[in-house]
Amino acid sequence: MLPEGVLINGLTGEVSPGTGKYTKRLSELREIFQDQTELDRLVEVEGDPVVYEVIEYRKEGSDLFFGTTTMEPGKVSGEFFMTRGHFHQRRDMGEVYYTQSGHGVLLLESRKGETKVVRMDPGVCAFIPPDWAHRSINVGSEKLVFVWVCNVDAGHDYGDILKHGMRKIVVDRDGKDTIMNNPHYSL
Ligand SMILES: [Fe+2]
Repeated sequence: MLPEGVLINGLTGEVSPGTGKYTKRLSELREIFQDQTELDRLVEVEGDPVVYEVIEYRKEGSDLFFGTTTMEPGKVSGEFFMTRGHFHQRRDMGEVYYTQSGHGVLLLESRKGETKVVRMDPGVCAFIPPDWAHRSINVGSEKLVFVWVCNVDAGHDYGDILKHGMRKIVVDRDGKDTIMNNPHYSL
């Protein structure tokens, strides 16, 4: 393994050299939105838009990896486009989210049910402590691009969030992003 400089474009999320990428489209995120009828309609009329793309830089044998997440702007019945949200499988491993461009909300939830919000604005580097679920939400009208840095062993645990939802949702109320209780949250 050798040291290397990796060029990251903070406006597009491009990673050079990148080692892998994946894209999430609206139809793949159906369960996490409140209004699934409207989501189905958007998938139909807008051709299943991309919600976010993840590009990573990973070297075999390293303990760390990093990359970008680029989130498109958009809403489903006023609820902003968001990532699936996850805990890490390894409960002793946190993460860093460093916002490059755009505006978002990082929604965090502890195992005990505490909720925290960190605004994602350019230059803000968010510390995500171990064992806090995290979901990012694009509340702006442009792409939200952030760099993440994580341990390769952290892993994703999507199950709890998919099953119960998160306690809070972020919606557009009169043009302002507003954090509300999730009416569909279930223990
Ligand atoms: Fe994570």
